[in-house]
Amino acid sequence: MKPAVLVARAVFPEVLDKLAQHFEVSSNQDDVLWTPTELAQQLQGQQGVFTTGSQRIDAALLAACPDLKICANMAVGYNNFDLDAMTEAGVLATNTPDVLTETTADFGFALLLATARRISESEHFLRAGLWNHWRYDLFAGAEVHGRTLGILGMGRIGQGIAKRGAFGFGMKVIYHNRSRLDDATEATCQARWVSKEELLRNSDHLMLVLPYSAASHHSIGQLELAQMKHTATLVNIARGGIVDDAALAAALRTGQLAAAGLDVFEGEPVVHPDLLACHNVVLTPHIASATQPTRLAMAQLAADNLIGFLLHGKPLTPLNPQVLAA
Ligand code: DGY
Repeated sequence: MKPAVLVARAVFPEVLDKLAQHFEVSSNQDDVLWTPTELAQQLQGQQGVFTTGSQRIDAALLAACPDLKICANMAVGYNNFDLDAMTEAGVLATNTPDVLTETTADFGFALLLATARRISESEHFLRAGLWNHWRYDLFAGAEVHGRTLGILGMGRIGQGIAKRGAFGFGMKVIYHNRSRLDDATEATCQARWVSKEELLRNSDHLMLVLPYSAASHHSIGQLELAQMKHTATLVNIARGGIVDDAALAAALRTGQLAAAGLDVFEGEPVVHPDLLACHNVVLTPHIASATQPTRLAMAQLAADNLIGFLLHGKPLTPLNPQVLAA
């Protein structure tokens, strides 16, 4: 008998077809947003689940789903997983690194440019029929090329952004990360490690690319915003909760910070009303990895993790490989 897997959200039909060659597949092509209780009900008798970042997998769910052996996330971020609880329960976790790195770095840069050069704001002005003459300071924004790009979190995506800044835009790149990159990687990225304080004080444009965890919660709050240049822009393509959105909205409203570009939010898809009221913020709905080829590659990798593990005991990108050893 084929193992049973649940695909918890809508996904590319070709990925469902591929899974159906190997598994008894239950799917959710209507993309119903199940509550944790409904998810647990759907998971009864399933050995694997294909998740996105919006299904929480924690001890309570695992206790209710004793047949579950693997959760394959279609995302590089996995803060929806309680990894310790999964390891404790002997349930494998996988994610989708690498396949989205360059696409996400492209988007980070796009959001930086849109924010600094006030692209959304000026388009709304034009569409509203308010453009009736050229003016010397009309939507004059911040310079990007040649300025200082700060990066908080210097994994693969951060490194991709550093290269775009250094080689594409002649920017001076500084970064802060818990662990410093080796000399060769720093040279490849043309990036220099600095303390977090120096990063905040010296960045003309600050890009957030660090993973979310209890330790990174509100890494950028009122105190950090107060250390940044008034002319700076802040871009968050990492995760909601890394920025204190209420504090950010206050800084944008008072002019303490010039502008922000946000792809992720605390409590998304709900966006803090004070951010919605700010003109100097570009808001996008968590789409940094959203190109057709990249989203397909992410879905294929999540499916390949299910196939690799449940059929051959060999997942491609395990997050808690201790489970395999056990
Ligand atoms: C990721 O891969 O982590 C993206 O944010 C999509 O959820």
